[in-house]
Amino acid sequence: MIKKGIILAGGTGTRMSPLTKAVNKQLLPLYDKPIIFYPLSILMLAGIKNILIIVNRGQLNQFRKILPEKNNLGIKIEYKEQFKPSGLPQAFTIGEKFIGNDNVALILGDNFFYGQSLTKILRKNINFKKGSKIFLHPVRSPQNYGVAQLVNNKVSKLIEKPKKTKSNLAVTGLYFFDNRVIEYSKKLKFSKRGELEIIDLLNIYRKKKILSAELIGRGGAWLDTGSVEDYYNASNFISTIENRQGFKIACIEEIALKNNWINKADVKKAIQFYGNCNYSKYLKSLIY
Ligand code: TTP
Repeated sequence: MIKKGIILAGGTGTRMSPLTKAVNKQLLPLYDKPIIFYPLSILMLAGIKNILIIVNRGQLNQFRKILPEKNNLGIKIEYKEQFKPSGLPQAFTIGEKFIGNDNVALILGDNFFYGQSLTKILRKNINFKKGSKIFLHPVRSPQNYGVAQLVNNKVSKLIEKPKKTKSNLAVTGLYFFDNRVIEYSKKLKFSKRGELEIIDLLNIYRKKKILSAELIGRGGAWLDTGSVEDYYNASNFISTIENRQGFKIACIEEIALKNNWINKADVKKAIQFYGNCNYSKYLKSLIY
């Protein structure tokens, strides 16, 4: 069972400069909410209440303004700073104390997931005990991603940004790990580009034959918000769905309410916190 989750919300955001020069990428708007609401909502949908958010040095107070430790979500939020963005596996050494003896989920702060069966997929896998689990999604340009090859549903190979590949299954930015991830992360060496690589970490699990994969098929969506174009495409996607259906994607208070983690009074507090805006109007519609 996974009860703890880490959101990696640092990074340099180079591809989105100059937008990210003064503001961290995860605090930029993705349609009508900050990007970080989306990965947070995924952890909450999975049922995870203990959350560590890793941010760049010096940016902690900015994040606290929108997601304070004392929140109206019925969850426990902690923060840690990453000295320098040196790779995803650093999440587990920075988060060592937070993880303690438990298993842990990692989600990248700029990843967007959506789809009808998503919560089901998350809840089904949250019970895992040993090894690592990755979530794959078909993409048209696998050469831009870490790609997994499967044989009989087992991960046979992981390749980072392959020039040529038979598989179109990208490794998304959501990972479940058992507690040994701390130990394995400490063993990793910096790659040629000077980072600790998540693929190297996953390969440790693959070689031990305890890496499994779950497919988020074409009925689901996994969107990257790392480049300006991807970012606006994701924004348009969210706006289209929300305006058509009248439901919000990644309304974190709505998820907390449905999980029975908070009550109407907490939602009222959230409305006060956000002030007079469309997001608050939506929250009101949930409780009146
Ligand atoms: P990337 O998209 O790999 O990096 P980035 O966000 O810095 O952007 P760019 O490539 O344009 O410079 O990172 C994926 C996510 O992980 C993103 O949300 C930032 C976060 N991250 C960290 O918090 N710490 C890190 O050391 C790295 C590499 C990424």
